[in-house]
Amino acid sequence: MKEDPAVNPNQHPLYPLEPVEIDAVIFDLDGVITDTRCAHEAAWKQLFDEYLEEHVKAHQSGCGSFSHEDYREYLDGKPRYEGVRDFLASRHIQLPWGDPADSPEQETVCGLGNRKNHYFSQWLESHTVDTFADALDVLQRLYRAGVRTAIISASKNCEAVLANAGITDLFAVKVDGVDMAEQSLPGKPDPAIFLQAAQRLGVSPERTVVVEDALAGVKAGARGGFALVVGVNRGESGHAEALRHYGADVVTNTLTELLKDPQPGVLSAPVEEIALFREARNAVRARLRNKHIALFLDYDGTLTPIVEDYRKAQLSSTMRATISELARSCTVAVISGRDLDDVRKLVGLDQVFYAGSHGFDIAGPKGWHVELQQGKEFLPDLDAAEAGLREKLREIGGASVERKKFSIAVHYRQVASDDVLSVEEAVDRVLSEHPRLRKSSGKKVFDVKPRSHWNKGQALLWLLERCDLGGDDVVPIYIGDDTTDEDAFHVLRQAERNGGDGIGIIVGDDSGRPTLAHYALEGTDEVADFLQWLVAITATGAKG
Ligand code: G6P
Ligand code: MG
Repeated sequence: MKEDPAVNPNQHPLYPLEPVEIDAVIFDLDGVITDTRCAHEAAWKQLFDEYLEEHVKAHQSGCGSFSHEDYREYLDGKPRYEGVRDFLASRHIQLPWGDPADSPEQETVCGLGNRKNHYFSQWLESHTVDTFADALDVLQRLYRAGVRTAIISASKNCEAVLANAGITDLFAVKVDGVDMAEQSLPGKPDPAIFLQAAQRLGVSPERTVVVEDALAGVKAGARGGFALVVGVNRGESGHAEALRHYGADVVTNTLTELLKDPQPGVLSAPVEEIALFREARNAVRARLRNKHIALFLDYDGTLTPIVEDYRKAQLSSTMRATISELARSCTVAVISGRDLDDVRKLVGLDQVFYAGSHGFDIAGPKGWHVELQQGKEFLPDLDAAEAGLREKLREIGGASVERKKFSIAVHYRQVASDDVLSVEEAVDRVLSEHPRLRKSSGKKVFDVKPRSHWNKGQALLWLLERCDLGGDDVVPIYIGDDTTDEDAFHVLRQAERNGGDGIGIIVGDDSGRPTLAHYALEGTDEVADFLQWLVAITATGAKG
């Protein structure tokens, strides 16, 4: 239990948050990010009001009606059937567990849970989910400050709620009721769901914050050894005290207060405001003196200009010669959304590392090759989705489906603008059948990828570790032009916040797009100049 809240309830050394002091924030969904707590509660109430009435008729004994306190105490934050069990136990009612396939009419724990889910699904289908404005604001500020975020929910409807609200892409990691059932994770107040999210973010609980509105949730956060457990009370009387009692370190009624400064160390900026590399050359040169450079290069839009037909993006022979020259003094890796074999063939150099399929498939000099387990387990999903996409897109002129080993690209650069929406609809329809895959958007392409935390940034970190390049005599440099390259800029910013070094360079002039890069190059010609400059300085200054 916590100290008397009346004294100074929100005093905690980590609160409000200072981005440099933490690595990640894990948010609960219903009631914290989306305004869906009431809809869940109403569905539970409908179920239990009906059920308790039937029960009274059958047993001639009353056991009180279903209250808001019942929701908070027995159901909120818990997996569906565990909630039913705990509520019934509070009324001394024991029912057989049953089976998740039970019909909503069956008088079992699962049957009742399914009836509630029927009511909730009806609500979800007929309503647009609202995202709390303070949640959107804080997520954006955390992103800009280089703090990673995850969403968790005991609910099996998490994915549908995120999609309905249009916020699926806002979180680096998601762990929900479906994952919990698949992996047999115990529900809150066990901390398993939060620990799993932290693990997938690649952060330790001691540097991670949990934000929750459920009593079982704050209890789980406290048990999991997280740096700070923030209870969210959106104006309910008595709830703040209850949250503190169950383990919240602090309680807030708006997420806006979570971060210290409304603009804490803002790192991202629109592309056009990023310092041009050519104006910062001397400073960078000084920074690289006596360092080993680990150079990571995106392919399309970075080493070659974007072309109408992605199959025709050829590397110029001068660019190839420069990269080959650089590979003598630096560690060089090309990290691409393309298939590994494809990008390796296009670059055609043996001395460099390649990460294909957004980093799921990695190869290096001397025949070294690793297919990451993170990708392999998704192959059956990708195969099925590929077949579905080919079938649905056959009719749309100009659309092309490119299968890579661990992802699928749907290119629409050559699709008439009136038809682009149909392409996206087809992709969404196929993806609705494959919940383990997700869509992201690049330049005139939809990428269908495993729903995994793996990305170009993780591939960069993985390569640094594999190549023993974690020391402070190493400066990683990442050059890329597209949204997927932001994941790499993000990990460099994070390393920087932890005292490491790293330079992110964005290519192009996508004015208005926010980026976490440190410097900008205006196009692939400037990339060529930059690489030649690197050849020159590594020959004379940086460590070989
Ligand atoms: C979350 C919600 C609860 C809900 C539980 C199970 O914790 O806050 O209200 O009962 O998930 O949700 P589900 O949608 O799987 O029944
Ligand atoms: Mg909640």
